[in-house]
Parts: sequence; structure tokens; C-alpha cells
Amino acid sequence: MKRTNTALVVSSVAWLLLLLLYGHLHFKHDCNTNANATGNEGRSLIVKRGHLQNRSCPNDPKHKGYPCRDTNCTASFPPPVQRLRTIIQSQEPITPEHRELIDNLANQTNTRVNLIFVTAASANHYNESQGLLKDLHEKVFPFLKTRTKLTFKLVYYDLGLSKPQQALLRKHAKFEVIRFPFERLPVVFKNLKTCIWKPLLVKAHLKHSDVTFWMDASMRFKDGNLTAILQQVNSIGLLISRTFWMLPAHVAQPMLDYFRVKPCLLSPFYEMAGGFIVFKNELLVQRAIVDSWVACAFSPNCLCPGKDCIKLFGGCYNENKTYSKCHRFDQSAMAVILASLFDWRATNFIPSRLLIDFRRGEKIMYLPTRL
Ligand SMILES: *[C@@H]1O[C@H](CO)[C@@H](O)[C@H](O)[C@H]1NC(C)=O
Ligand SMILES: *[C@@H]1O[C@H](CO)[C@@H](O)[C@H](O)[C@H]1NC(C)=O
Ligand SMILES: *[C@@H]1O[C@H](CO)[C@@H](O)[C@H](O)[C@H]1NC(C)=O
Ligand SMILES: *[C@@H]1O[C@H](CO)[C@@H](O)[C@H](O)[C@H]1NC(C)=O
Ligand SMILES: *[C@@H]1O[C@H](CO)[C@@H](O)[C@H](O)[C@H]1NC(C)=O
Ligand SMILES: *[C@@H]1O[C@H](CO)[C@@H](O)[C@H](O)[C@H]1NC(C)=O
Ligand SMILES: *[C@@H]1O[C@H](CO)[C@@H](O)[C@H](O)[C@H]1NC(C)=O
Repeated sequence: MKRTNTALVVSSVAWLLLLLLYGHLHFKHDCNTNANATGNEGRSLIVKRGHLQNRSCPNDPKHKGYPCRDTNCTASFPPPVQRLRTIIQSQEPITPEHRELIDNLANQTNTRVNLIFVTAASANHYNESQGLLKDLHEKVFPFLKTRTKLTFKLVYYDLGLSKPQQALLRKHAKFEVIRFPFERLPVVFKNLKTCIWKPLLVKAHLKHSDVTFWMDASMRFKDGNLTAILQQVNSIGLLISRTFWMLPAHVAQPMLDYFRVKPCLLSPFYEMAGGFIVFKNELLVQRAIVDSWVACAFSPNCLCPGKDCIKLFGGCYNENKTYSKCHRFDQSAMAVILASLFDWRATNFIPSRLLIDFRRGEKIMYLPTRL
């Protein structure tokens, strides 16, 4: 284990240094055969101003819930190599049983493709998820079929659908449906609202594709043209969107301690959104980002800290900038991991314009409702 980590640190350090110092990279397995992946070449990694609020907090009386620089903060980001080491060392080992379980999820759909689209729903999100299925079938997949040579598939996780919903999916769905194995995981994974299951699904599928799309059931594609998304993911490895809120206000203290980050250092960052994240199958993405996310899900002090972590969700959406006043579970973890690894440059993972949307609670009838 130790050996693997050392090897990883060494190889990833080169990667990270490249990323931090030179800004542009060429990955080995470019899945993006039609959309021109060289489009971003030469674009150096800079701080995207719109995705960071660097005005100092006391001068910011009007924007109460938004990010701002905490002028009292004495913490600073350590050098890249140390950051990478810290994040790798934060990963508590997962048991062999759990590792195997994650591997076996993807084994059920073992064909390798360029792009995997992964979503999940329980009974009360079944209708909402149909809006996503409709967009994929009517916008995204036709674009991929007619404009690219990429292979792709959709995997739908059953997080507790009703019997009739399962039967409808089995009958009408043109995609794979996998039941999430709650009974073989710690009981904390039954906290559906924390999305603690999400990192496991991403890890399971990442290595069987070039690019993995995570999509919440409420996510909608405004346009099927994925060219810009694929270009970004091919060039820098990941894509995520953001909210308007200050990040460290929405991260519970145990998670900050787990990742050894001071909240004031994160105060200029916006919270990142967990509803749509695109990952490139690449060593640093796998081992530093996704494995940290998965380890955090399994740790009692990270994604869902304490006995009743769902309580921490309350009180997020108001103007109070108090650090750790609430918690957003999977998306808090992802933002802390990205900021810890890439400092201000994490803003590069947020595209300037993204043709997607979230419609929480929107119910669309797409699949037939009769068997
Ligand atoms: C990709 O873009 C580069 C530079 O913009 C261009 O020279 C090249 O012809 C393009 N390749 C394809 C296949 O479109
Ligand atoms: C934020 O502002 C401080 C003080 O003006 C400056 O030193 C720092 O470089 C800025 N950071 C970024 C990422 O712009
Ligand atoms: C910084 O410290 C001063 C003095 O303790 C305090 O008045 C001020 O509110 C602090 N600022 C922030 C942003 O916490
Ligand atoms: C799943 O794949 C792993 C390696 O990727 C293999 O060790 C395991 O036996 C497979 N399990 C099944 C059920 O095929
Ligand atoms: C989903 O839609 C079906 C069909 O219109 C309806 O019977 C059902 O109550 C809806 N479920 C929820 C959770 O809203
Ligand atoms: C898809 O989007 C790219 C830029 O993001 C654009 O250059 C291209 O023309 C679009 N393709 C279609 C078919 O609309
Ligand atoms: C902000 O939130 C914290 C933690 O929930 C609470 O203790 C504090 O009273 C709140 N401040 C205001 C001004 O509402």
C-alpha cells in the first residue's frame, strides 16, 4: 500500500507540477476523436476571476452569504507536492470487501466505452429522473451518434425504486439498471440525502471509460452538444459547476479537520455543485480526487460526520457567513478536495458557460407508465 502511494506521489507530482507551472497538458488516452481536443491548447491555467471573490470580507457588507477574503487568515496553501501528499495521506484505507464491491458494480456492465453517463434515483426521484432520460435520449445521444465516433452508455442506479418503477425500467429502459448494494455497506450509506453513495458510483465506472459523467436526477441538458465539455475535460481532467455561496460556510468542521484545511483559506471560494461533475479517466483524477472522495465517504469523520449527520444540512441558505454553519456532504467534499489540491487554480474546473440546468422536483413523463 505504502509503495503504491509513493509511486503515485512521484508520478503525480510531475503531473501536478506541470499543471501548476505550465498549465497545459496532453493526456495519453484522448477519447475525444471528433470534437477537437486540441482546442484548448496553449490556454494557460489562470485564476478565473468570476469564480473567486477576492475582495476582503469587512469591505463586503452587501454580499452577506457570498465568498470574500478573510483578512485575518494566517493560513496559506502549502507547496503542490505537500498538498498532494497530504490529500493522499488523508485517505483512510477501504476494506478489501468494500473495494471488491465497488469493482463488482461496474463488472455488471463490463463493456468499455468512451463515455459513461451515470445517474441514480430512489422512488421519490423517479419522475424527476425522466426529464434527464428524455434530454439524454432526445438531445445528447443523437448528437453523439451523428456528430462523433464516440461510444457511450447510460447506467441508472436503483437507490430504492418501487416494484412497479423497477418493472417499468426493466421493460422500457434502453440502458442498464443496477441495484445499489446497501445491504453490503455500512448503514450510513442508507442516508440517501447525503449522496454518500455517489463517490462509489463514480469510482466504479471511471476506469471502464475515458470520461464519466455524473448526473443528479434533476439535471437537465439545455443542448446536446457536448463539444465544449469534452474539450475541457480532455484538457484539464474535470468539470464542475458552482453555486453563489461561500464554500467554508457549507463544510462541517470534522471534514475540514479530516482534510487538514483551515476554513478561512477557503473563504474566497464559491461552493461547488455536486449535481453534474465530469471526470477524465486519468491517474491524478482517480487516485487524488476520486479516491479521496471515496475514502471520505467511508470515513466516520468526513462526508457524513457523526451519528446524525443529516441534521448538519439545515441552515445553509441564508446570508450568515459563519464557517461550518452547515454541511453539503458530497459536494462539500469535492470542493475541499479540489481547492486543497489546486488552490486558486481549482476555479479552472468551473466553465464560464455551461449549458445545463437543475430542475429539482420537476416531474416529466417520458418512459411509458404502463407495463
Ligand atoms: C484541431 O484543431 C487544430 C488547431 O485548432 C487544427 O489545426 C486541426 O486541424 C484540428 N483537427 C481537426 C481534426 O479538426
Ligand atoms: C487576492 O488578493 C490579495 C491581496 O490583494 C493578493 O495578494 C492575492 O494574490 C489575490 N489572490 C488571487 C488569487 O487573486
Ligand atoms: C478580524 O479580526 C478582527 C479583530 O478580532 C475582527 O473585528 C474582525 O471581525 C475579523 N474579521 C473577520 C473577517 O473575521
Ligand atoms: C470484477 O472485476 C474484478 C477486476 O476488475 C475482478 O477481480 C472480479 O473477479 C470481477 N467480479 C466479477 C463478479 O466478475
Ligand atoms: C410520478 O408520476 C406518476 C404518474 O403520473 C404518479 O402516479 C406518481 O404519483 C408520481 N410520483 C411522485 C413521487 O410524484
Ligand atoms: C458544438 O459546440 C461547438 C463549440 O462548443 C461548436 O463549435 C460547434 O459548432 C457545435 N456543433 C454543433 C453541431 O452545433
Ligand atoms: C450564524 O450561524 C451561526 C451558526 O449556525 C450562529 O451561531 C450565529 O448566531 C448566526 N449568526 C447570525 C447573525 O445569524
